[in-house]
Amino acid sequence: MDLLIRRVGRLATPRGDKPLKGRQADHVSEHAACAVTVSKGRFVQILPEKALPRGLTPSREIDAEGCLATPGLVDPHTHLVFSGSRAKEFESRLRGASYLEIAAKGGGIQATVRAVRRAGEEALFREAQGRLSRMLAQGTCIAEVKSGYGLDLETELKILRVVDRLRRAGPQEIVPTFLGAHALPPEHAKDRRGFVDLVAKEMLPRVARERLAEFCDVFCESGAFTVEESRAILEAARQAGLALKIHAEQFTRLGGTRLACSLEAASADHLACVGDEEIAALAKALTVAVVLPGSALMTGSPPYAYPRRLLDGGAAVAIATDCNPGTSHLESMPLAMALACAIYKMTPAEVLTAATLNAACAVGRGHAAGSVEPGKRADLVLWEAEEIREIPYRFGQVPIKRVICKGLVVEGEVFSGEDALDTKDENGAFVIWVDGASRGNPGPAAAGVVIETAGGRTLLDEGFALGETTNNVAEYSALLKALEEAERLGAKSLRIHADSELLVKQIKGEYKVRHANLKPLHEEAKKRLSRFADVQIRHVRREQNTRADAAANRALDKA
Ligand code: NIG
Ligand code: FE
Repeated sequence: MDLLIRRVGRLATPRGDKPLKGRQADHVSEHAACAVTVSKGRFVQILPEKALPRGLTPSREIDAEGCLATPGLVDPHTHLVFSGSRAKEFESRLRGASYLEIAAKGGGIQATVRAVRRAGEEALFREAQGRLSRMLAQGTCIAEVKSGYGLDLETELKILRVVDRLRRAGPQEIVPTFLGAHALPPEHAKDRRGFVDLVAKEMLPRVARERLAEFCDVFCESGAFTVEESRAILEAARQAGLALKIHAEQFTRLGGTRLACSLEAASADHLACVGDEEIAALAKALTVAVVLPGSALMTGSPPYAYPRRLLDGGAAVAIATDCNPGTSHLESMPLAMALACAIYKMTPAEVLTAATLNAACAVGRGHAAGSVEPGKRADLVLWEAEEIREIPYRFGQVPIKRVICKGLVVEGEVFSGEDALDTKDENGAFVIWVDGASRGNPGPAAAGVVIETAGGRTLLDEGFALGETTNNVAEYSALLKALEEAERLGAKSLRIHADSELLVKQIKGEYKVRHANLKPLHEEAKKRLSRFADVQIRHVRREQNTRADAAANRALDKA
């Protein structure tokens, strides 16, 4: 066992891996006086404190001192790679101008596009990383991040590369979304068709080919993109293998929500202007309604009754910060939760579900995260509170005692950074991460392999089921699989990372290979390694090897 969290005063969590619709969201399960165990970054058990066996020897133990525990928070809608301030626009709105009027005069999204086109990649990265690390301290363990302030191929790719670096820098999980159709850029002001084609036929295929986004989003709004244009882009995205999202019904009821439901989008976001028809469509679909209290409040667009209507009508509701420089400069999910109670009249249990399980479903992570249940990823927040009501009641300011993200206890400087991991290698080496996992040792086993280019682009991120075997055999199998793939991909030099010390030391010749079943695997690995011009193999800590570990576990889950 890697981690034991003891003396949890109360654990509150939604359950399952599908979005909780309508009133179901108001029921979270609660366990008093319990302990939680974690192994390999996943929850193993939630058990009454009294039932904890004696003589446990976890690698790490945390005394929760009676704190409230909830799942790690999931922020399913952010635009957090940006630069520059739009505080002046905020004041203009206070003086009576509307968001759409400001946009029509060349402010709004266009103002940020100008700033982001000028900004260097490094500066954008640092700024966004700062936001993410503050978000982590506020409990956000998964964040969706959109592009959309580039609006030309080069700048959209620049933003998505920054998002990819954020993803690799960790520790949070980052879900990248391509939002090329956020606004019409000035160079296409008179050529809507041309821009929609550029997004659908040039940008999207490139983004998909380089695996820089998992989702595609469109701003379906008057002054942005029509329903037909949105459909063309989203259908192209689906063809390219991306999952779908949409900004719909934020200021105008155009029909984006119905489009989202018909295309089985993972989410439809904003929705301030939805009517009964949209609500009925959402109630039937798996599409999650993501509501954004920060942006509703800061753009001054009451009424605030729509989330209640969505819930009462049977839709699955999630909440997000919408962190962006225009409508919602908000990083804190706890404050978003408080606002959702205050202005939308959602209940504390509904906002907890909305900020965890339903939010995870909105970014395609419902099976892996969003609740504290055995097998799910160990994302957990310990709050200095006794019950979930206090999170909104104390207005997003309940001190957080600890955040646990992917089974890692977050403390201080959490960004281990790429440099420490050598993923940026000037020599053009392929960067490889391997991990073997067996549930039972021996037991059902799988190999996880991640291969990246020197520049950090992912070429392979896959798990391979191995049937029943031991951990060590699984580790060797992962290495063999990686070498086979690297050869196929034409690699010449390799930087291999593994968290099995045994494997690394045996390959380096520092340990003898004693087990008969490892000998042939070891020989085969040496043979294949000798075919590369230059190889380095390093032992890394398990928590640095989360992607390969996750890949192996995905294969195990499927097997
Ligand atoms: O979600 N509505 C479109 N996109 C953002 C705002 C972007 C901006 O104003 O910069 C939103 O509110
Ligand atoms: Fe948005």
